[in-house]
Amino acid sequence: MSTFLTDFDEIIDRRNTNCAKWDTMAKKYGRNDLIHLGVADMDFRSPKPIIDAFSQVIENGIFGYTDLNDAFYTSIQRWIKKYNGVTIPEEWIVFCSRINIAAGICINSLTETNDKVIINTPAYSPLCDAIIKNNRVIIESPLTFKEDHFCIDFEQLESIVDENTKMFILCNPHNPTGRVWTRDEIEQLATFCIKHKIYLFVDEIHANFLAKNLTHTSILQIEGDIQDYLICANSITKTFNVPGIIVSYMIIPNNEIRTKVANDIDRIGIHNPNIFSLAAIEAGYNYCDDWLKDVCAYIDNNDKMVRDYILKYMPKFEVMPREGTYLLWINYEKLNISEKELEKWFLEEANVQVNMGSSFGEDGKGFIRVNIATSRLLLEKVLKRMKDAYSLI
Ligand SMILES: Cc1ncc(COP(=O)(O)O)c(C=O)c1O
Repeated sequence: MSTFLTDFDEIIDRRNTNCAKWDTMAKKYGRNDLIHLGVADMDFRSPKPIIDAFSQVIENGIFGYTDLNDAFYTSIQRWIKKYNGVTIPEEWIVFCSRINIAAGICINSLTETNDKVIINTPAYSPLCDAIIKNNRVIIESPLTFKEDHFCIDFEQLESIVDENTKMFILCNPHNPTGRVWTRDEIEQLATFCIKHKIYLFVDEIHANFLAKNLTHTSILQIEGDIQDYLICANSITKTFNVPGIIVSYMIIPNNEIRTKVANDIDRIGIHNPNIFSLAAIEAGYNYCDDWLKDVCAYIDNNDKMVRDYILKYMPKFEVMPREGTYLLWINYEKLNISEKELEKWFLEEANVQVNMGSSFGEDGKGFIRVNIATSRLLLEKVLKRMKDAYSLI
């Protein structure tokens, strides 16, 4: 048993639980022997206060239609006050079942067909899909790598923006690169959006996973005119490993934007939250701060272990700095092989499944994304498998 409240070392068999990370991927590759480090959820049990709250719901034995309660709002308000130092009025909070749905709804509500929407690339693909599948034009703003971290290219932004550009989608911390944008960068982006009258949709789902000594500047901390362009999307699901619950929320300060978005949510028929989601939010956002601290420390240790091991034994993989998320973004260009060849090596020689960079767009090529939110013991196995097969690349 570790010193943590949850035994993060425990290897929990998630197979045969309809698990997207382990079962769907096993089915995709027709294999049961792969170790999966892809889909972005954690292999850890959720904190006990959440499990207890779920047990209470189960104990009642009735799973009827459920409405948002006061605790939904006060718990979110507490969390935002504690972690972002910002007091949010209750009416700014808008329930939505998923962030991926929220992105699509905001694009639909606030922009017109063929309007342009900017997103940094590489990008989490459902955010790109929200643009493309709603018949808007995706405008890519590739991140550049300077002085040891990925940066937003503000010069390029000024060159691609025009009067048809209506929204910017920012991911902070950034999936897949693990970058946490500084206050300066956030302010600069806010200024850009105000100048060009562009809505700013900020996805902060990974905000609670910060590497040691890193702080996160939420867009909610930026006061002034940006609040008239802003949608900040967040969720409890990554933080406490409950994405199967399906719940998220948006903070929308401007009344007109909020009404438009809320009307569309209503039109689509998203009315009642999942009965378990309220239990998760109340328990998670009020009683699980210590668990979060522990899981972040555990992920930091995993990061260090993987980074040190790769540097020592597989130096042609280059692990990018991770400031946030529980995902490592690893460059393999020194190997001089194609993505197809590397994927084949991972699946057939190392027997490990990771996300290949091209699933995050063209700008993801040359990288892999590795989910390290799993037992250290399992990661040790992965590293050993990779090391034993390294000479075969
Ligand atoms: C950046 C980002 N946004 C959103 C999501 C998904 O959120 P939801 O399950 O609320 O749609 C993920 C999941 O991996 C993510 O990485």
